[in-house]
Amino acid sequence: MAFNIAIDGPAGAGKSTIAKTLAKQMNYVYVDTGAMYRAMAYYFLNQGIAADDEASIAAAVDGADVTIRYENDAQQVYLNGENITGYLRTEEVGNMASSTSVYPIVRKKLVALQQKLAKTTDVIMDGRDIGTCVLPNAQVKIYLTASVQTRAKRRYDELITKGETADLEQIAADIEERDYRDMHRDASPLKQAEDAVLVDSSEMNIEEVVAAITAIVKEKQV
Ligand code: DC
Repeated sequence: MAFNIAIDGPAGAGKSTIAKTLAKQMNYVYVDTGAMYRAMAYYFLNQGIAADDEASIAAAVDGADVTIRYENDAQQVYLNGENITGYLRTEEVGNMASSTSVYPIVRKKLVALQQKLAKTTDVIMDGRDIGTCVLPNAQVKIYLTASVQTRAKRRYDELITKGETADLEQIAADIEERDYRDMHRDASPLKQAEDAVLVDSSEMNIEEVVAAITAIVKEKQV
């Protein structure tokens, strides 16, 4: 049976950075499920469908064929045969993903794909509902979080380093709004699984978080 590690938590908690590092260290496959919701969102945006138009979204879901491939150890997301990985990390796509991931028809399609990937492969999968819904039998479940202020400051620093302008207050407000939406939707809301270990990275750097999670994984492997 494959060994599965589930990492859930709010936007900006550092899930993908940590999961990528751990996957490399352990020679596991990193599965970024947010990128799949972003791919669907990208498709809906290109079709001109509004986030609140559930009927049009339901009618469009089958037209989006999302597949995942690994090229040079990095996850690539294909939509109807085209590699769209480079278009997914914008605020517009992220907000659309948060809004359209509330629909069960969208979730059903992507959860099936995620479960298929984890069945035969040792994975570290990050998202919002991995420990609670996608991989309820994962051998390790982590709930990785950090305060809104910490997450906003990390995002702010990232944008400033890239030479972009940023407004810390606005970023914090956007994070709060996204958290609220992800935690209060009816379908698989973000919450800590009962058997997940809570890691609060507010006062930790990346190395410390990786070390903490590595220790949790080692405990479960014996
Ligand atoms: O992790 P991310 O920011 O790339 O995710 C984008 C949105 O996708 C997030 O706001 C909520 C949704 N999502 C989800 O509902 N379930 C997941 N397992 C992963 C992401």
